[in-house]
Amino acid sequence: MARHLITSAIPYINGIKHLGNLVGSQLPADLYARYLRARGHEVLFLCATDEHGTPAELAAAKAGKPVAEYCAEMHAVQAEIAKGFRLSFDHFGRSSSEQNRVLTQHFAGVLADNDLIREVVETQIYSKADGRFLPDRYIEGTCPNCGFESARGDQCDNCTKQLDPTDLIEPYSTISGSKDLEERQTKHLYLRQSEMREQLEAWIDSKSDWPILTTSIAKKWLTDGDGLQDRGITRDLDWGVPVKRGREDWPGMEGKVFYVWFDAPIEYIASAQEWVDAGEGRDWERWWRTDKGAEDVVYTQFMGKDNVPFHTLSFPATILGSKEPWKLVDYIKSFNYLNYEGGQFSTSRGRGVFQDQALEILPADYWRWWLLSNVPETSDSEFTWENFQAGVNKDLADVLGNFVSRVTKFCRSKFGEEVPDGTYGPQEAALIEDLTTRLHAYEAHLEAMEVRKSAQELRAIWVAGNEYLQEAAPWSTFKEDPARAAGQIRLALNLIRFYAVISQPFIPDAAAQLMAAMHTDDDSWPEDVAAALEALPSGHAFTVPDVSFRKIGDDERAEWQERFAGTRA
Ligand code: MF3
Ligand code: ZN
Repeated sequence: MARHLITSAIPYINGIKHLGNLVGSQLPADLYARYLRARGHEVLFLCATDEHGTPAELAAAKAGKPVAEYCAEMHAVQAEIAKGFRLSFDHFGRSSSEQNRVLTQHFAGVLADNDLIREVVETQIYSKADGRFLPDRYIEGTCPNCGFESARGDQCDNCTKQLDPTDLIEPYSTISGSKDLEERQTKHLYLRQSEMREQLEAWIDSKSDWPILTTSIAKKWLTDGDGLQDRGITRDLDWGVPVKRGREDWPGMEGKVFYVWFDAPIEYIASAQEWVDAGEGRDWERWWRTDKGAEDVVYTQFMGKDNVPFHTLSFPATILGSKEPWKLVDYIKSFNYLNYEGGQFSTSRGRGVFQDQALEILPADYWRWWLLSNVPETSDSEFTWENFQAGVNKDLADVLGNFVSRVTKFCRSKFGEEVPDGTYGPQEAALIEDLTTRLHAYEAHLEAMEVRKSAQELRAIWVAGNEYLQEAAPWSTFKEDPARAAGQIRLALNLIRFYAVISQPFIPDAAAQLMAAMHTDDDSWPEDVAAALEALPSGHAFTVPDVSFRKIGDDERAEWQERFAGTRA
């Protein structure tokens, strides 16, 4: 038994996310957490909402609500959706929590004590009408290069030229449209990451087992251009963690907040504190402090590839720079992007399926199964309604669902609703041997977080049962040799429990339904396949379950295709 700390990248608060956000982090993290728990490990699985920054402020303004109120509401919405997808977080925290405020200010304080923070005076664009400094992407104007009228402050979308907001002709605020902008000086804090380059490089080099996707991105950031740049960790905003040096005020930094990417990863730690403070857990330090027992914790992070630089460099710079005994990540599993029907999911254009809509049209397990078995692991992958329909119908309805329904119905009609008495012969022994090999492969893939391979192996295990049933053909055997058919059905009924137990990390609701139908709560992981297939003895009652998976029809598929093509109302 080991102790596993697992975190999933914390989703932004500004709106309901599409499926891409689910598949690239939370869902695979949940699969891993569920698997490790099923194997008897102690797991702490944490996530949260990422609530600070300009996007949260703007989303709240658009919704006509005070930002704190907006965040509280959206947090509840996201928590509900997470429950709907059966994401088994031990705690789903909030980066705007009191715990995170204190911890973020603490880190800034110790980093400053360690001489890793410098103050920089910069010139930025201030909008008098908005009463605030404008981040580059909230300034637009005419491109000096091509004359495009809505070039952004950081880049022209028309000619792709990189710009400074001060390059724009007739710049205006995208918040208010005001052209009353001026340059003003403002002071900010920079984290001296460049000082830590060697330490970070050595740390990353020591992680020879990390996936290539993770290390290649980290290396690129370490060595590209001028290498690891010092990073501004404060902003002129109202909404965020107020800049303080530990508990002390920071002269000259009044009215400023920490940059959202500084406080968001610290929420991984704060979420554990929230978990304890909410009365859900007892001790968070034994997960996070290597001087308090966390040295034997295995810490795994899940995230999309765009998050990798922040987790391989910025956050470790915070942790290492503190020179305090915080737990550093052991393994970073990152994912590519999921595309939608030949293009990209687009939140702004309402293109693709949003998480709340997905749950309205089909149960969580359908999504979990398809998304996990098509996770963008080695390259980007694509959601199409045809593939989704085919995957769900074939794997869940035709293979797993069909097996369960044939076996239970046949048994009910010939032997009644209890496990019949019959022995296993050579055919069953061969199946058990095959399943043993496959189960070990499945376990190895899950342990290695090879999500697609584990889905393939699980599917193969379901298929093996179907093939066995097809060959054994108890419906024919029954005519000449009812005792033999009884043995075959006893095995097949036991296989249903076996499937429920090992499929639970992928499809928890269906697994629970199958366990209930088999009148058992013995969900112990099959250490020995032969023994596991004896778990339900003859005479053990069961109930024929309702159809566990319905097929997706062509008409509804076409309707959804049309409905989610763009522009969410
Ligand atoms: N909110 C970010 C995103 O959705 C992820 C933040 S992860 C954390 O891309 F490390 F900062 F917590
Ligand atoms: Zn241009």
